[in-house]
Amino acid sequence: MKLTTEDYIHILETCEIKGHDEAILRILRYIELGYPVMLYGPPGNGKTTIAEHILSYIGGDEDESSFLKIEATEGMSEYQVIGGFHPLAMSGNAELAKEFMYKDGIVTRAIESGKNLLIDEFTRAPSSAYSGLFLLLSRDTLPLEYKETVIKKPEGWVLISTANFGDEGTFKLSNALKRRFVPINVGYVSSATEKTVISNITPDLDPEVENAIILFASATRSLWRRDRSIPQGLSTDGVIKMARYCELAMSQGFDAKSVFVDAAFHQGTIIADETDPHSVQLVQELALKIAEDM
Ligand SMILES: Nc1ncnc2c1ncn2[C@@H]1O[C@H](COP(=O)(O)OP(=O)(O)O)[C@@H](O)[C@H]1O
Ligand SMILES: [Mg+2]
Repeated sequence: MKLTTEDYIHILETCEIKGHDEAILRILRYIELGYPVMLYGPPGNGKTTIAEHILSYIGGDEDESSFLKIEATEGMSEYQVIGGFHPLAMSGNAELAKEFMYKDGIVTRAIESGKNLLIDEFTRAPSSAYSGLFLLLSRDTLPLEYKETVIKKPEGWVLISTANFGDEGTFKLSNALKRRFVPINVGYVSSATEKTVISNITPDLDPEVENAIILFASATRSLWRRDRSIPQGLSTDGVIKMARYCELAMSQGFDAKSVFVDAAFHQGTIIADETDPHSVQLVQELALKIAEDM
């Protein structure tokens, strides 16, 4: 896959996600080199949006129909990823059994229709779901026993995956599988970037509340980095939700301090470990302390 300088610039400039130019550049370089990439980082910081943006651009279609996407789940298996005999192939009804012989999985459908592929939330499925994909990535071909054919990894086929490493409810990637993807970190962006993002989305937000939200976000991230006393910091997505909520509530006549605390408690419940009262309390105290100085 050859990309021109104009392609790079266009992709960077039209991306809704701000502050991740470095990560986007890295992704594009590996795509040019023909390697599958895995965007990883805490939830809500733009991984899926970046992947979709890049894939829809390089597929030559802005409406996202130029690539296939699957969101991995805990119950996902080889059947959904590569394909296999359809359950109705065993039907007592001969007509049905004939009609539903087998079903192609997402990888097979992508390759056979010449489309690139996004596997979102990759680590939500166990590594066993990916054994066929693993073989395809190692050998470039994969025999499909269920329909007696062989698929071949097409020249320039682009595969992007996303993952929250270490998140609750995710599987540990097998090392063998991990080596098939180049990991690209998509972490928290700077406060300055987030300020620009929310000024665009919520232009009427009270500046004092805006500051408080940005401060709250960076304080939760410090807590997370320091000793993991909370499982994640507030994401940019969380910052945007707080900003929108506060802007709306203040337009209804509520005061800055109380709308900020209100929104911070909502988002705090999301980022804290809700089964650990200490973790929830920590985030709430943080919000109250920031509100005191408003
Ligand atoms: N750096 C950013 N700049 C602008 N918007 C962002 C940024 N990070 C996150 N968002 C917002 O958060 C939303 C959710 O992001 P998403 O791509 O689903 O994150 P992830 O896949 O990492 O969980 C995006 O649609 C976007 O509105
Ligand atoms: Mg995502």
